[in-house]
Amino acid sequence: MQKTAIIGAGNVGGQTALLLMQAGIRDILLLDVAGGLAKGKALDLEDCASIFKRDCVIEGSDDFSLLKECSVVIITAGLARKPGMTRDDLLRKNSEIVSGIALKVKEYAHTSIVLVVTNPVDIMTSLVAKVTGFDTKRVFGMGVSLDGARFANIIHQELKIPVTAIEAVVIGNHGQTMVPAPALTQVSGKPLATLMNKEAVARLTQATVERGAAIVGYLGSGSAYFAPAAAIADIVKAIVNDEKRALGVCAYLQGEYGVKDVYLGVMAYIGKHGIEKIVELKLSPEEKDAFHKSADSVRQQLRSAFREK
Ligand code: 2OP
Repeated sequence: MQKTAIIGAGNVGGQTALLLMQAGIRDILLLDVAGGLAKGKALDLEDCASIFKRDCVIEGSDDFSLLKECSVVIITAGLARKPGMTRDDLLRKNSEIVSGIALKVKEYAHTSIVLVVTNPVDIMTSLVAKVTGFDTKRVFGMGVSLDGARFANIIHQELKIPVTAIEAVVIGNHGQTMVPAPALTQVSGKPLATLMNKEAVARLTQATVERGAAIVGYLGSGSAYFAPAAAIADIVKAIVNDEKRALGVCAYLQGEYGVKDVYLGVMAYIGKHGIEKIVELKLSPEEKDAFHKSADSVRQQLRSAFREK
């Protein structure tokens, strides 16, 4: 039972399947309520296997009972942003979609590890944990690893230093209150905060927060999917290969950083059990304050999301 399910055969789901196949994941299920979309994309993807020289089975379906064969479930289904929308504007509709999916996951894949991607991801991850009742170590979200990748790229563009020499850290929510951490971000082994003044750091930080919206603005319809899929595939590889590698994920906090009972973006070691251990970074007082504000904003959204139920 080593199948990986991707729920939602849209751009993020399809691209994730492609990257997982390339990465050597051998058994992939692409599920969507629009069965034709899932089946069509699965056939197209299947044709890639011989080009990549990968021995991979990929099935497309609208039959959620197939989840019973899956040990990892990725939830990407839901509406994407349109220009001018924040991720939070998706809350109501995506809550309905994701709650329904979570019930199916609970019914058919009750021992699986669930990676939530649908936005607003901090709230959707919380919803999935609540609906499934799964151990929170097995339910987490993708968000801040994407933001970290964006921060690294933006620093690379500014300083003209190879992106491979940059280890960028972003924590907090995957939204307007995310917390890019310049003191913890390493550029050729030096903290970013020592390489530029506060104004420049603030400009790059703001560009990171706005990056997703900038992409939505250019696309006109739909949101980013190449980098989101790359970030998802990276997390799934860490799970499947039991890498115990530190990655940015939306995890359930139980006192870390002085924050309790809320899902929020942090660094954590990811392995075959899901979240193996949350890493508690040494934050500056400003970063800690920003992190707490981020937790408050997620709590506030959660209150309104669950009140509507
Ligand atoms: C993004 O930031 C879709 O949340 C995703 O582009």
